Amino acid sequence: MSYTIAVAGKGGTGKTTLAAFIVDYLRKNKKGSLLAVDADPNSTLNECLGLALKGTVVGILDKIAAMKNGLPSGMTKDRYIEYEVQDSLSEGEGFDLLAMGRPEGPGCYCYANTVLRGVIERLSKGYDFVVIDNEAGMEHLSRRTARQIDCFFIISDFSRIGIRSARRISDLAGEMEIKIGKKYLIVNMAPEGSPVGATGGIENLKGEIAASGLELAGVVPFEKNIEDLALAGKPVIGSRENEEINKIFKETIEG
Ligand SMILES: Nc1ncnc2c1ncn2[C@@H]1O[C@H](COP(=O)(O)OP(=O)(O)OP(=O)(O)O)[C@@H](O)[C@H]1O
Ligand SMILES: [Mg+2]
Repeated sequence: MSYTIAVAGKGGTGKTTLAAFIVDYLRKNKKGSLLAVDADPNSTLNECLGLALKGTVVGILDKIAAMKNGLPSGMTKDRYIEYEVQDSLSEGEGFDLLAMGRPEGPGCYCYANTVLRGVIERLSKGYDFVVIDNEAGMEHLSRRTARQIDCFFIISDFSRIGIRSARRISDLAGEMEIKIGKKYLIVNMAPEGSPVGATGGIENLKGEIAASGLELAGVVPFEKNIEDLALAGKPVIGSRENEEINKIFKETIEG
């Protein structure tokens, strides 16, 4: 059984950045094979990890739809998707990456998502760790990209709104048929000089955090280095070890 870690939260709180740091932490500190999943149709995890996308689940579905002569004889659609997925995994140093990709045009992602869910379930069996970066908000929870999450990180920015949003995500996750092992809040982008920082520091958020009922795994400071790398379109991992972030994962992720 693989150990599944998922990252969720309001838009722009740093989900993808922290998912990339989790991948980096796991490949350096845990023994075992590792699959990173970009379940956000607007794929950016590969950039944070410094990897070009080889293919996407949506790309595979488009390819099947465009096949004039149908699937190769004797192959079921599921079997064919499985075969193509193996071929479309991007290989990083110490991990593989699977991306959902974005369906063309408006319309809904339901079908691509159902396929992604099946793909994740089958692929997971071959990995010790699976890290899933989700799109912003709560939609992905109702689509249940993962049915079992061993360690669920809800990311908030340094604001009451962010923490209230994290609370709603946590509540919804509790109402869904998703088995969640451990659930943590991470407050990201704390202003420099926190706890005395410009917005009054983490003390100001303590009441809101307590009301959320979420366990605070840690506070990640705003780091110019992270912002600069993103601005330059460079991978966020591999630049240098981030002690605060590593400490959070060391204390929370098992396996
Ligand atoms: N601790 C940090 N210090 C400085 N910049 C950060 C930090 N965490 C994230 N960022 C920056 O904030 C921006 C948003 O981060 P990111 O893309 O990880 O958020 P997200 O929650 O995945 O966004 P989306 O909801 O669009 O998927 C990026 O430019 C990223 O580099
Ligand atoms: Mg993201």
